[in-house]
Amino acid sequence: MAKLKILEFPHPRLRIRAKPVETINEALYQKIEDMFETMYDAPGIGLAATQVDFHYRLLVADVSAENNEPWVLINPVIIEKEGLEVTEEGCLSVPGYFEEVERAEHVKVSYLDRAGEQVQTGFDGLLSVCVQHEMDHLDGKLFVDYLSEAKRQRIRKRLKKNRRHRSHETAAIL
Ligand code: NI
Repeated sequence: MAKLKILEFPHPRLRIRAKPVETINEALYQKIEDMFETMYDAPGIGLAATQVDFHYRLLVADVSAENNEPWVLINPVIIEKEGLEVTEEGCLSVPGYFEEVERAEHVKVSYLDRAGEQVQTGFDGLLSVCVQHEMDHLDGKLFVDYLSEAKRQRIRKRLKKNRRHRSHETAAIL
């Protein structure tokens, strides 16, 4: 197992549209395990492959309090949407920012599970929001894209400042 580096906004590779997974093999299982380790460690409740610079249609999620309800969705496609809800969202690729985003309340998703079986699952509540947020990542889209350009600029500037601060701290440790 290995913790992976999470790309942060405005990294250009967060904008890559992920390709479908064609083979479910040991290398993919390893990637899935690493993504869970990275997500739990962060900590976050969802992680898309795009965020760890792996551009295939794969996402992991776990919204349980005990981190014992892991979900793996491979090549997910939304086949049904219903209702609207507004949730305050954050993102491991936009650390420290939380904004309200409107999404479907319920989604039905067709995907390959960990075993490679084609399945359909209906998601509600936080898991529904999470799956939609992670699926956006696979299309190169971030939750800040739902905000105004002015707000996005402010976030970009603030993150840049934080990054400088962080690298300075690293230098001090050396
Ligand atoms: Ni995210």
